[in-house]
Parts: sequence; C-alpha cells; structure tokens
Amino acid sequence: MKRIVLQTQEKYLEKMRAKQEDLTLKMEAYAQDNLVPILNWNAADFLEVMIRAYKPKRVLEIGMAIGYSSIRIARQLKAKSVLHAIEKSNANIKLAAQYINKAGLDDKIKIFQGDALEIIPDLKKKYDFIFLDADKQDYEKLFNLLLPILKKNGIIFIDNLLWHGYAAARKVPAKENKSAQVIRSFNKLFMNSPLVKSIIIPVGDGIGIGVKVKNDC
Ligand SMILES: C[S@@+](CC[C@H](N)C(=O)[O-])C[C@H]1O[C@@H](n2cnc3c(N)ncnc32)[C@H](O)[C@@H]1O
Repeated sequence: MKRIVLQTQEKYLEKMRAKQEDLTLKMEAYAQDNLVPILNWNAADFLEVMIRAYKPKRVLEIGMAIGYSSIRIARQLKAKSVLHAIEKSNANIKLAAQYINKAGLDDKIKIFQGDALEIIPDLKKKYDFIFLDADKQDYEKLFNLLLPILKKNGIIFIDNLLWHGYAAARKVPAKENKSAQVIRSFNKLFMNSPLVKSIIIPVGDGIGIGVKVKNDC
C-alpha cells in the first residue's frame, strides 16, 4: 500500500485523536485482526463531523460490512433520524447486527440484506445523505442509481477514491491495476457530473464528497 498522507502527519493525527468509545476501538481491532476493510479511523471521524453538521434525517449506506461506519453514523443522528444500510454478505450482517445491538442502536439502523444494485431501484423515499463504500467495480453503476434518490442539496460521501495511493501512482503493481483503473475512471465521472458539486480530499483512503446541485435525473 502506498501512503496518501506523510507518516509523520499520520502519527501526529493519531496522537491528537479524541478519546473513542470502547466499542469503536474493539471494532477497529477486530477489523485489523480479521482483515475486514473498514473506513480508516480519520475518515470515520470526518464522517461523524459531517453527519453532526449536516443533521440528515434519512441516511443510506451502501456496504456496511461489520457495522463500524454504520454505528459511527447512527451515533451522530438526531432523535428521529434513521440509517438504512445495504449489505450483501450474510456473515457480515450477522456480526454487524450483534455490534449494533451492543451499541444500543437497533431502532436507528435498518439493514437491507442483498445486492445494492437490485435493492436501490426499489427504494421509494429519497435520502439526505448517502455513504457509498461497496465493491469498487460497481461504483459507477451505483452512483448512477443513487443520484435519483439523493435529495437536492443532499450529500454523497464516497470512500477509497485514492485507492491506497494507486489512483495517482505512475507505477501500479499488477494486482492493483484493475482497481486503480476502475477508480480513475469513476473519479472522472464523479468530478465531471453536472448533477453534483464534487471534491476528492486526501483523508483516509481518499474521500469523495458531492452535493447534489440539480434535480434533473
Ligand atoms: C469496505 S466494506 C464496508 C465497510 C464499512 N462501510 C465500514 O466502513 O465499516 C465493503 C462492504 O460492501 C459490501 N458490498 C460490496 N458490494 C456490495 C453490493 N453491490 N451490495 C451490497 N453490499 C455490497 C461487501 O460485502 C462489504 O461488506
């Protein structure tokens, strides 16, 4: 993996990190030990700040894995707000449900089990905030499906847009080549969409943030 932020900055940021809930730290350790790809802690802290500042009523997450980011989002939601999370892996859902229960967030998070590509077209009501963190080869299709169910002025928050540094690297190892290409091509679509005002920032593995500026989709 290539570095996105200098190691000295990364260490400094880690030292400055506010005290976290025990469950957050346990889930980070579990993910690391079991190679579950979850949102980088700094990007998750940033996501929490975004949720707290934007106060979305309806949030949609695509790709919840073991529920780490779902719990972090749900903890920041206002009393009547909800998170809908789509996940295709049964094993992940089982673990996520246990963690969500431990966090006391059963009534805040509704899990949809299955492939987001099939579930999204059946979702009836629009969302204020969408977090996209699924298989990278599906990003383009998912983005196009998600735009119509994002409210005007709503936010889409997307992980991995610098792809471990390989999106911008001149030399990419063979095993990362396909993913790097997929991300590069998605980034062009995302940054040039007339429907969103978008930016990619070097937090975590590269976060894309888009605000929907037009309703015509
Ligand atoms: C990177 S992990 C998500 C991590 C999680 N957002 C977090 O930060 O804690 C990606 C997850 O997306 C799920 N996934 C990938 N493509 C999907 C799809 N098309 N529909 C539903 N789930 C999908 C995978 O099973 C995996 O659990």
